[in-house]
Amino acid sequence: MSERLTTKTALITGAAASIGRTIADRFVREGARVVYADRDAAGASAAATEADSSARSVAMDVSDETSVAAGFDELAGAGWTPDVVVVNAGVQLFGHDAEVANLDLEVWERTIRVNLTGAFLTTKYAVRGMLELGGGSIIFTGSPTAVRGEGSDFTAYSSSKAGMHGLGRTVAAAYASRGIRVNTVGPAHTETGLVSTIVNDPEARAAIIARIPMGRAGAPADLEGIYVFLASDESAFATGAVFPVDGGMTTL
Ligand SMILES: NC(=O)c1ccc[n+]([C@@H]2O[C@H](COP(=O)([O-])OP(=O)(O)OC[C@H]3O[C@@H](n4cnc5c(N)ncnc54)[C@H](O)[C@@H]3O)[C@@H](O)[C@H]2O)c1
Repeated sequence: MSERLTTKTALITGAAASIGRTIADRFVREGARVVYADRDAAGASAAATEADSSARSVAMDVSDETSVAAGFDELAGAGWTPDVVVVNAGVQLFGHDAEVANLDLEVWERTIRVNLTGAFLTTKYAVRGMLELGGGSIIFTGSPTAVRGEGSDFTAYSSSKAGMHGLGRTVAAAYASRGIRVNTVGPAHTETGLVSTIVNDPEARAAIIARIPMGRAGAPADLEGIYVFLASDESAFATGAVFPVDGGMTTL
């Protein structure tokens, strides 16, 4: 496979596990300098070490501005200001998130804090660095719950993802003339630790797969290609867009 990201420095949040780690590993294979960022510092470090000796890791809690700022500062000091940033870290509070009448404010706030405020903070510092570099590509991991009734029993999660989609469009419009692109990927149900509650419940799993026309759940590897495309200059004219990679889920 040709290396499509050899000139890029890419930071991926939530890169200690699952989708983020899979994307980061693929970016390494595509020749990028890759930073594995996660609030799980040990996990991010282990993933980077396992991927390649050239990869770095940084401890970053996206819900904490001091932590995000410190992470980007550390990279700038090392000459590793990223021109590709994947805004991927997220939580889904199964067993707590609920239909609105039963949703605790604390659960709402915790979800919004990581998924939406975390996206805002990561984007804020990513854009600052990219303005100095003269451009870059930011890629959000969104969700079908942002655009359809997919997450009707997950009010906080679905709202946080809808907020992310809106943030992506807004930032894309604001910085399009300054070389910074922002796009959102919309994965379907992807079998990772995040959704283990569904994976471990045969009835719930069958119900969600029944809503995916291709008839199967997604895997992190299904998503790699679109992130490579959006990180590379092959997508130079794409910004403010949402790219579903969901087996047709959002066509129903
Ligand atoms: N799995 C799915 O079905 C699915 C579908 C659509 C979208 N998504 C989105 O994809 C993204 C990744 O999901 P996943 O399934 O790989 O989840 P996961 O739970 O398997 O991994 C998430 C990673 O994010 C990290 N993280 C959590 N909170 C953080 C914080 N505050 N700061 C930094 N890192 C933090 C975790 O430590 C973990 O390494 C999320 O944004 C999720 O909403 C997932």
